Amino acid sequence: MVTRVATVAFQGIEAVQVDVQVQIAPGGAKFLLVGLPDKAVKESSERVHAALYASGLSLPPKRITVNLAPADLPKEGSHYDLPIALGLMAAIGAIPPDALNGYVALGELGLDGRLAPTAGVLPAAIAAQGLGLGIICASECGPEAAWAGEDMDIIAPDSLLALCNHLGGHQLCSRPQPRRQANPPRLPDLSEVRGQEVARRALEVAAAGGHNLLMIGPPGAGKSMLATRLPSILPPLNPRELLDVSMIQSIAGELAGGALSDRRPFRAPHHSASMAALVGGGLKVRPGEVSMAHNGVLFLDELPEFSPAVLDSLRQPLESGETAIARANARVTFPARFQLVAAMNPCKCGLAGTPGHTCKRGDACAADYQGRISGPLLDRIDIRIDLPAVSAADMIGPSDAEPSAAVAMRVAVARELQRKRYAEAGAPEVFTNAAAGATLIEQVVNPDKESQALLLSAAERFKLSARAYHRVLKVARTLADLGGEERVGRPHIAEALSYRLTLA
Ligand SMILES: Nc1ncnc2c1ncn2[C@@H]1O[C@H](COP(=O)(O)OP(=O)(O)OP(=O)(O)O)[C@@H](O)[C@H]1O
Ligand SMILES: [Mg+2]
Repeated sequence: MVTRVATVAFQGIEAVQVDVQVQIAPGGAKFLLVGLPDKAVKESSERVHAALYASGLSLPPKRITVNLAPADLPKEGSHYDLPIALGLMAAIGAIPPDALNGYVALGELGLDGRLAPTAGVLPAAIAAQGLGLGIICASECGPEAAWAGEDMDIIAPDSLLALCNHLGGHQLCSRPQPRRQANPPRLPDLSEVRGQEVARRALEVAAAGGHNLLMIGPPGAGKSMLATRLPSILPPLNPRELLDVSMIQSIAGELAGGALSDRRPFRAPHHSASMAALVGGGLKVRPGEVSMAHNGVLFLDELPEFSPAVLDSLRQPLESGETAIARANARVTFPARFQLVAAMNPCKCGLAGTPGHTCKRGDACAADYQGRISGPLLDRIDIRIDLPAVSAADMIGPSDAEPSAAVAMRVAVARELQRKRYAEAGAPEVFTNAAAGATLIEQVVNPDKESQALLLSAAERFKLSARAYHRVLKVARTLADLGGEERVGRPHIAEALSYRLTLA
């Protein structure tokens, strides 16, 4: 007889159903695990044997075959321990054979039979709910699974023994409840930044429309300081975005304690980051920083210090909002719609352009340094600004800088306008001007005659690419939204153009 237990394999953030089939047949003591298991899955047989032994069960000295179907789908990870153990337990009669029919099971086993948390429980629970099934997972992952649905059947025991008791009806495990992150740490506030009015305005515009931003300035001007204050003016994630962000965090194993947070992700990888770390991949297919920043911010400080090849790998996700990782036997995509915020000095010594300063390396200093960033990458950055050093008058004396809360309020109003506009235009999946496609933005901007003339002359004079043209329209739309104006006018187009024409 063959016993079957349902589990999942992950492809990107999607969970695909996998059947664990167990057969105990006459023959010498042998344990076979087939169905494209990776090393972690192969090793599960050792953990399963030990966990069953620790739970007072032993396997018969027969030929045991475990098949993970479909056999041509690669299986990665340690979460196959639990379904394999459950299949074996059902095969030897330790649990009723039909007890597992309505469940998807996933979890890692310790040698003592304890269930350890595994990555990907949230997408697994959502997939299980889609199939009309319940889920069995480790107790630490219970709160995460509970987000999949209020009426979903969830068993989250802390050991194999507790699971046996639950399935046998001796001692029931209570249903876990969804959890939100309690008391998230306080975010740094914009009121601490002195002067830099142009940069503050640019930061607000970038936040309001989800635009990419590049800040160029001498050391100590406040570039990193401003960028790290962006999360404090961004609106919280809406329920749809929250689920997507949490699924990625779950797959990456970064959902601490199964508690979800509606704060937008802010990722700031160091400039030594590899391409696999940034766009995903590596030995195990893991989401990269671009995906971890989905629906949030990817902050690249000291932009030219990143390897040029790594920077250029951002071009595809910046355009399509997702990243595709091709492997020998699979192609996996992760969502990656992030807002790029970058900061850099104008040259290696950091002071090119400062009045009275001459670079030791001569004029080539700035050109060499800025040349590390490719034209196509720059073309994708809607807002580029120069930050001068903070003046002594701004630094000394009382500060009257606006706090983040006031700016956040204006950003939230502008974002709500955008959400409504795109929902009415038949694109409910678009929440910001930056995320709108070319046709959609042309349809909603509709500039007046004066603005069109300005756009035309700028496009010809500065040789704007087609992408740059659409990006100017997007920023202009955001400027009008921030000003509460229905129509995009000449001043909006002029300001949007000024952000693009600052030379890097
Ligand atoms: N505009 C400002 N208002 C208040 N303090 C500032 C400002 N700019 C810089 N500072 C002070 O200087 C410190 C360094 O600023 P920050 O790290 O943002 O500079 P930076 O522009 O990123 O420099 P670098 O190019 O060297 O990375 C801050 O921690 C803060 O104490
Ligand atoms: Mg800095």
